[in-house]
Amino acid sequence: MADITTDVLIIGTGPAGSAAAALLSTYGIENMVVNRYRWLANTPRAHITNQRTMEVLRDLGRDVEDEAYMFASHQDLMGDNVFCTSLVGEEIGRLKTWGTHPLSRAEHLLSSPTKMNDLPQTYMEPLLFKTACSRGTQARMSTEYESHAQDEQGVTTTLLDRLTGKKLTVRSKYLLGADGGNSLVAQHAGLPFDGKMGVGGSMNILFKADLSRHVAHRPSVLYWVVQPGADVGGIGMGLVRMVRPWDEWLIVWGYDINRPAPEVDEAFATKVARDLVGDPDLEIDLKSVSTWTVNNMYATKTSNGRVFCMGDAIHRHPPSNGLGSNTSIQDAFNLAWKLAYVLKGRAGPKLLDTYTVERAPIAKQIVTRANKSIDEFGPIFQALGLLDSIDPVKMQQNMDARCENTDDAEKQRAEIRETIAAKVYEFDAHGVEMNHRYGSRAIATDGQMEPAFQKDAELHFQQTTWPGARLPHAWLFAKDGEKISTLDLTGHGKFSVLTGIGGEAWVAAAKKVGKELDIDIHVHVIGPRQVWQDFSGDWARVREVRDSGVVLTRPDQHVCWRRETVADDPAAELRRVLKQILAS
Ligand code: FDA
Repeated sequence: MADITTDVLIIGTGPAGSAAAALLSTYGIENMVVNRYRWLANTPRAHITNQRTMEVLRDLGRDVEDEAYMFASHQDLMGDNVFCTSLVGEEIGRLKTWGTHPLSRAEHLLSSPTKMNDLPQTYMEPLLFKTACSRGTQARMSTEYESHAQDEQGVTTTLLDRLTGKKLTVRSKYLLGADGGNSLVAQHAGLPFDGKMGVGGSMNILFKADLSRHVAHRPSVLYWVVQPGADVGGIGMGLVRMVRPWDEWLIVWGYDINRPAPEVDEAFATKVARDLVGDPDLEIDLKSVSTWTVNNMYATKTSNGRVFCMGDAIHRHPPSNGLGSNTSIQDAFNLAWKLAYVLKGRAGPKLLDTYTVERAPIAKQIVTRANKSIDEFGPIFQALGLLDSIDPVKMQQNMDARCENTDDAEKQRAEIRETIAAKVYEFDAHGVEMNHRYGSRAIATDGQMEPAFQKDAELHFQQTTWPGARLPHAWLFAKDGEKISTLDLTGHGKFSVLTGIGGEAWVAAAKKVGKELDIDIHVHVIGPRQVWQDFSGDWARVREVRDSGVVLTRPDQHVCWRRETVADDPAAELRRVLKQILAS
């Protein structure tokens, strides 16, 4: 007999675990979350928060979304990604990033009702965790996962209460491993992985110091400092990352992974900070130091029976592109509604198989992208002449050569410009963040071909209602002037039907089929004199079906079916599709 029973036990209160708990509680599913430490993230690791993540917070509630903006640094402060020899020293180049270039800003505004922002993990985790607990999640800190055993009916997990030293067992219907990059749950579940751990070593130095005079005129989240020879025989690149503008900072500095992780004491941390800032007298208020490894590994299967893993447990990669916590929260958004439908008896367990089918390719994609982004610093070093020698004097001369009045120097200047501009694939890759399209039996394409990307799919988001894609965003208007995004009409744990004039038959059909399958289906008719009006025509331009057609979305706002025009028997069509999706 287990000490505790619950429907879903979640190991880990990071972005993945806390998001899963918040969503499950919002959907009315009993769940419990544990963390081996006494509290949440104690360093501000993840920070770049993309529009897809903000859409999940918005789906959890406007209060949750608003609180995130309240604590975040505004997108405008994320602007210039600077390459320099130190904050005080010479600037080599800069790049407009994270949707702050005017052209990119327009794409952001057209893609989502939400805004990208910089929200350190020390703010994101408490927000998600608080949302979860206030909606019913049972949480236990200082509680460590040790092992699990599963059978046909459920999972029995053994935990260690670190306060008393006693073991306790939890019986749950499902177990979620959101226990980070060294996931024991994934290991015990025997998940298969591709790639390699520990391909590089890094240290974080967190400190407070007012650096506004060096940075406020070129607001950025990331200042890349190139100092030839600053580390033994190396290029000497360090990152000064803004945590709070402009008095809290996190320095990321590499170490040789082939040697043991270094002991970073206050004197060493202060020296690195002074070197990168370029001020030998800088006083810092050191908050913490830690070391971490750069990984290049992803799970090719994300679940085993009743055990599902998410977040860094299934995708382990460097922070490049800022994808870690964002993708972790999307994992939770994908899985939570499926668990809720199965646990409420509204879907068959086969629906849960689609989690791996839909999320494993994304784990591979983002791990590959993040590691490629690291490699893409190489051409900048090459253009600066830092790869031709390991002698710091020669390296400095090569860098200085770009200032000369010669054809070679002009060529070098062009190469530096181009290679810095190419880092857009790391720092403004809107397509990587937004373009996820799923293909599984929880998506009914009815044989419709996937639309090809018109532009570079990593850089640009392309809206489509092709089943598998996230519903396009367009602003709609009520008679009283209220403005709402098409995304706001969907989600909230429910399937939604969007149609127009001539598609009224879908309303009755959704009501009928919803009753038969015991699910709530939201229905919205959009058009003149309807509740929601498309005055600008933006929805008509992106919906890719006729007025009488239909776009059906899942609770995670992904389109799961569409039809060009009204069907002869709309209820039969909806029934066929929903039965397939719900594996019922
Ligand atoms: P995470 O590691 O956050 O949480 C794991 C949880 O499991 C913790 O609560 C832990 O205590 C718990 N746990 C582990 N083992 C346990 C056990 N045996 N028993 C009980 N509990 C256990 N990402 C991003 O999206 N944008 C960004 O800008 C950045 N930037 C960034 C910078 C730096 C310097 C780093 C190091 C990382 C980033 N990231 C990032 C990555 C991001 O921090 C990371 O992807 C997420 O924290 C992953 O969230 P998870 O919830 O999966 O794991």
